[in-house]
Amino acid sequence: MTATAPGGQAAPVNPGGEVLRCEHISKSYGVVTALTDVNLRLARGEVLGLIGDNGAGKSTLLKILCGFQPPTSGRIILEGKPVVLKSVDQARSLGIDAVYQDLALVNQLTVFQNMFLNREKVRWPLVRNQAMRKEAREHLDEMGVHIPSVNVPVAQLSGGQRQAVAVARSVFSDPKILLLDEPLAAMGVKEGAIILDLITRLKREGNVSIIIIAHNYAHVLEVCDRINLIQGGQITLDKRTDETSAEELTDLVVAEYRRALEERQRSA
Ligand SMILES: Nc1ncnc2c1ncn2[C@@H]1O[C@H](COP(=O)(O)OP(=O)(O)OP(=O)(O)O)[C@@H](O)[C@H]1O
Ligand SMILES: [Mg+2]
Repeated sequence: MTATAPGGQAAPVNPGGEVLRCEHISKSYGVVTALTDVNLRLARGEVLGLIGDNGAGKSTLLKILCGFQPPTSGRIILEGKPVVLKSVDQARSLGIDAVYQDLALVNQLTVFQNMFLNREKVRWPLVRNQAMRKEAREHLDEMGVHIPSVNVPVAQLSGGQRQAVAVARSVFSDPKILLLDEPLAAMGVKEGAIILDLITRLKREGNVSIIIIAHNYAHVLEVCDRINLIQGGQITLDKRTDETSAEELTDLVVAEYRRALEERQRSA
């Protein structure tokens, strides 16, 4: 099924500056086909929302884009050049950083220690805690992330605050592309708002391009410039946010569910 905008793909928000493109990406895990012929593009400074039902292939695509796993076929073009992403570290060195829900931070360490994890400031033989505290505080303030203190263990923060610190840490390393897999999952309204505000702020600054996976259409419609719907491992809709609605997105997913149900009934 194709519900893609006329002409195939939605008009890019920033036609001049494409930062990332996926061409014909497919991914199989043994007999399971998770992605089939996915074409996706991301403009500089754009926020792209990736939506779709459970098992549609969203995380699989993000894991390919952050170097965690290779595609079975297809290629990735980064700023006009084909790249083969061999590891998460290599992708990070190319400016692609991913944040995963709950996996991002070390709970026992303080906020500032997490911010500088694996890139501690050292003036041999001393770790420069004071300098790291100050810089972490400044950076969080700059990004509008309000937490009581950078000296508290991350375990004492709310889920939303933790996620905000994880995103802020990623932004700290100055990525070109930020990949967020369900940063709003299991969050209350206030906690979710922390992340939505952060994304809105990053969008306004325009230095980083973002792909965000989310299940809540209201959130996606609020922060994203463009939306791609993945169904059964394929992108079936690519539209600018202002050209679609929660109703259209819901209708497409419900229609997919009905079709699957009818198929099951027919084969029963
Ligand atoms: N490591 C793996 N080995 C085998 N199959 C996998 C693996 N990872 C994902 N899959 C399968 O690939 C398909 C897509 O999974 P994926 O995690 O990308 O879905 P998703 O869209 O992120 O779903 P959700 O919204 O539930 O997170 C599913 O059928 C899943 O079972
Ligand atoms: Mg997922």
